[in-house]
Amino acid sequence: MIKTIAVIEGDDAAPEAVRPTIELLGKLNIGLEFVYPAVGEAAERETGSAFPEASRQIIDDADTTFFGSTSGNTGNSLRYLRWGKQTYANVRPCLHLPGCASPLKDPDGIDFVIVRENLEDLYVGCEGPIGDLAPLRLVGRTVRRPVHELGEGKYAIKIITREATERVVRFAFGLAAKRRNHLTCATKHNMLRGSDGFFLEVAREVAAEYPDVEFDAFIVDDFACRMIREPKRFDVVVMPNLYGDILSDAAGGLLGSLGLAASGCFGDDYAYFEPAHGTAPDIAGRNIINPTATLLSASMMLDHLGFAREALRLRDALLRVYAAARDAGTPDTLTPDQGGNATTTEFCAAVTAAL
Ligand code: IPM
Ligand code: MG
Repeated sequence: MIKTIAVIEGDDAAPEAVRPTIELLGKLNIGLEFVYPAVGEAAERETGSAFPEASRQIIDDADTTFFGSTSGNTGNSLRYLRWGKQTYANVRPCLHLPGCASPLKDPDGIDFVIVRENLEDLYVGCEGPIGDLAPLRLVGRTVRRPVHELGEGKYAIKIITREATERVVRFAFGLAAKRRNHLTCATKHNMLRGSDGFFLEVAREVAAEYPDVEFDAFIVDDFACRMIREPKRFDVVVMPNLYGDILSDAAGGLLGSLGLAASGCFGDDYAYFEPAHGTAPDIAGRNIINPTATLLSASMMLDHLGFAREALRLRDALLRVYAAARDAGTPDTLTPDQGGNATTTEFCAAVTAAL
């Protein structure tokens, strides 16, 4: 059965990681078909729109989308993949690959997953001048005067709904039940009692549906410290959108490079896959971007498409390339972010050989 994957290569250095990844997927010979919806500047030149209707249709018709990374140019397709397709659970595995240059003394065995609520929180995008809030006469708990009287300034609205929280927490519990039966919730509920406090309250309610999964909760700043000091005690961690964005980059750094941070965004009837790192504009055009996050995201995608065996093969091949570098006692065969001097092409060739 042929599976169709819409590919959006993304901006800056992202295509340099996406292209060899697609080439490698093609070599698996499992009937994957790749289609390329036009987006961004290229689409604008051709059609007058940066995200034409035809491209949306290609994404809708595909079994999934593989997305490079955006710096804004391809941003409207990303917005469609998240809000348009309601992919509410952003899954970001934080797995140490032995041989990676982690800043930690003993990173072997780090294996937790951040599940980030992907659609609301401060990402609803309601911002504006605080003067606009005058009709509401909002008095803050701390500033003790109507916030619109604070002079020139802007506001941003943070939304936490029951529906979005329940579904992402259920998703996280489901994932924990397939892993080590432990879910942690991270929120700033001591300060943001109304919004984050509600996220935690709903999470606790949902926890009652999963008596076999151990549930605990930390204030997010405390969690950030524990994530670095004792990362191995975590299995699945669920959190509101913005904390998940920030902490998944921090977790990438913990593992050794943002180039290692894979991700997949899941909704009830669509999922798409993209590395969590940015577009690395500083190294664009140099063929040295670390494609590991992109390849690991591809492995997550294979799993989602029903190719569990190939997903594992790809992940194992990556593990072997890093382990070989460790055994050789030199990171030479890895990309420069890992201390090596391999190009992206050379690194991908090594992964293909290991496959
Ligand atoms: C991510 C990115 C995005 C986000 C940007 C590109 C909008 O940082 O996927 O983590 O903030 O979600
Ligand atoms: Mg981010």
